Amino acid sequence: MSTAAPLMSPARVLVVGGGGRENALAWALQRSEGVERVWVAPGNGGTLDLPGCEQLAIPEHNHEALLNACHEHGVELVVVGPEAPLAAGLADRLRAAGVPVFGPGADGAQLEASKQWAKALMVEAGVPTAGYWQANSREEALAALEAQAKPLVVKADGLAAGKGVTVAETIEEARSAIEEIFAGRFGGDASLVLEERTHGPEVSVFALTDGERMVLLPPAQDHKRIGEGDTGPNTGGMGAYAPAPLLDAAGLDAVRRVVLEPTLAALQARGIRYRGVIYAGLMLTDNGPSVIEFNCRFGDPECETLMPLLGPELAAVLLACATGQLDQAPALSIAPLCSACVIAAAHGYPGEIRKGDAISSNLEPSAELQLFHAGTQRQADGRCLSSGGRVLAVVAQANDFDSAFEKAYTGLAQVHFEGMTYRHDIGHQVRRR
Ligand code: AMP
Ligand code: GLY
Repeated sequence: MSTAAPLMSPARVLVVGGGGRENALAWALQRSEGVERVWVAPGNGGTLDLPGCEQLAIPEHNHEALLNACHEHGVELVVVGPEAPLAAGLADRLRAAGVPVFGPGADGAQLEASKQWAKALMVEAGVPTAGYWQANSREEALAALEAQAKPLVVKADGLAAGKGVTVAETIEEARSAIEEIFAGRFGGDASLVLEERTHGPEVSVFALTDGERMVLLPPAQDHKRIGEGDTGPNTGGMGAYAPAPLLDAAGLDAVRRVVLEPTLAALQARGIRYRGVIYAGLMLTDNGPSVIEFNCRFGDPECETLMPLLGPELAAVLLACATGQLDQAPALSIAPLCSACVIAAAHGYPGEIRKGDAISSNLEPSAELQLFHAGTQRQADGRCLSSGGRVLAVVAQANDFDSAFEKAYTGLAQVHFEGMTYRHDIGHQVRRR
């Protein structure tokens, strides 16, 4: 047992990224114990609405400028939101300069950045996941498809911003997905993974880890499709809720034992000290949980959904992960509430979107109702305009899901921009009315 005093909270935090996830992270960190100021780079139209938050006009790929900002502001913890800067080595660069970072280095980020690498690690670790074939050429991929003679799931190897997966219904559809990948849509050196199709409801589990130990957040369920009844094209996520009853305490514990602990051990065996969040996208099949994908970051909108449930120890816990001292962190308290999140998207999303519409809101945030900004931009005249596919997230908490969703949808009715699109049935799995 450690006799050291509990780790202090960081007073000055930098959040990297500009989406709804980062707006929610900044909101949760600024209300954490001991945090005095939070900078967000590049942030969005909602950053300056958060008390104690400042916006830095630094893009997430400018590692040098981000490091300089850490020095200039005496930043004690950096939390990196998106996967691209992690895969590009931002955490490595900052850590090499002595700045504690919540987010894996480029080595650990391969869990998301390379499907081939992640699948090989899962097989090595004995983690349940669909059977697969990898291919580095069109010919190899088509031959594997031919040999299996059934429609396989086709996954481009690298980061594809959520657009690299085709769940083919027919062999022909799988063949065209393969052709598309090798036609250069995903970059010059294309490679892919072909996977057996699995069936079952999906759930997202998040493990905060210092590379050795981990703390699990309540499981969340996302709604990936644009259309009500979970129909139509895939999106980044149109809403979410947590804790997802799909995984009770015993189910979550099983995920820890069969998925997360072996994954962390396999990372360690490769000499990787993973300091950040492991996002396991799971399918609950008849044979138990099966990993659909790993991500090296928080899910969006799962992050917006979960952050309001987390206690004021969050900043200290993330710092402890960043410094490899999770055993000395205070316990992370989790409110025993249901959290409901509904995304307001731009007209046309996830296709060609409308941008530049003024956002008006009469929503009064409260202890159990939040408005997070995603694709928004503040103008010099103070007006806030839509600037992305997913524009806003309204999140509410209550003792049951019916009340939480009622509160979230009532909040959403207070918000308006031209062409605003949202699903009316988020949480249909857990609502009775
Ligand atoms: P994304 O990787 O977020 O583009 O989404 C991929 C989606 O494809 C997942 O959320 C699943 O719904 C689906 N998917 C991925 N792999 C499989 C699989 N092996 N079997 C069935 N569906 C899958
Ligand atoms: N909500 C899904 C994702 O963040 O990838």
